Amino acid sequence: MNDQPRVTQDFLDSSQYLESSILQYESIYGEDFVSPGGREVASELIASMELDPGSRVLDVGCGLGGSAFLMARDFDLQVDGIDLSRNMLALAEQKLTANGLSDRVRLQWADCLELDCCAQYDAIYSRDVFLHIADKARLFERLYAAMRPGGRLLFTDYCCGAKPWSDEFDEYVQERGYSLCTTDEYARYIANAGFEKICAQDETERFINLLQAEEARIELIPMPETARQKMKLNWQKKVQRARAGDQRWGLFSALKAV
Ligand SMILES: C[S@@+](CC[C@H](N)C(=O)[O-])C[C@H]1O[C@@H](n2cnc3c(N)ncnc32)[C@H](O)[C@@H]1O
Repeated sequence: MNDQPRVTQDFLDSSQYLESSILQYESIYGEDFVSPGGREVASELIASMELDPGSRVLDVGCGLGGSAFLMARDFDLQVDGIDLSRNMLALAEQKLTANGLSDRVRLQWADCLELDCCAQYDAIYSRDVFLHIADKARLFERLYAAMRPGGRLLFTDYCCGAKPWSDEFDEYVQERGYSLCTTDEYARYIANAGFEKICAQDETERFINLLQAEEARIELIPMPETARQKMKLNWQKKVQRARAGDQRWGLFSALKAV
């Protein structure tokens, strides 16, 4: 019996991913994106997977679909995007139609912890999603099963430093319902699921640079001044937590042996 707490669709759609919040995030990260570095970082990471045209990719927690659209349009990949937030998926579906990519991208409402497909994907890609998932052992077991032998896993995620954390960071994590782990803990989860050639990189310095560029962008977004100040403060706090070593950002890749 597994008693790990689960983040639900209701929780996501009524807290962090209200439609209004999603659109605000999008205005900071850039069109179709809700993750650090927006299109530029996504493009770089997708290219780093070096997938053959026509390869089948699962984008776990696809959000507004930005990465999935890039993979299909610029890299000629076949993409399945899944997401647990109905609000996010409704916006992504409108964008998919507007982009005319329905022949190469399929979007589906699904919880990645419930994935039950076997050996279907040449690659599994995910950007800043697993922070929402407490049961990391089950997560990587599902991803491993879904991937074809020889397949590649690539993801980024919010991570943390070793405890004890500052009270402020503890409160932030609890309020968001995040389940964070260190880059070393991630490497162990990935290895325990059976993946090989694991690379777990701490990219916190880059995260800080991205946060600072995003904070500068907040100045240019039309919004009420009180909302702007609140948002700027949130971004400044992320930088402070990252500099203090509590909040971290990781880039991970691994292979499923042939
Ligand atoms: C920070 S957003 C990132 C979205 C997208 N990957 C991007 O780069 O723009 C995190 C996404 O993970 C999704 N998510 C959270 N838990 C999930 C789960 N168990 N299964 C699938 N998606 C999930 C959320 O609904 C949200 O869209």
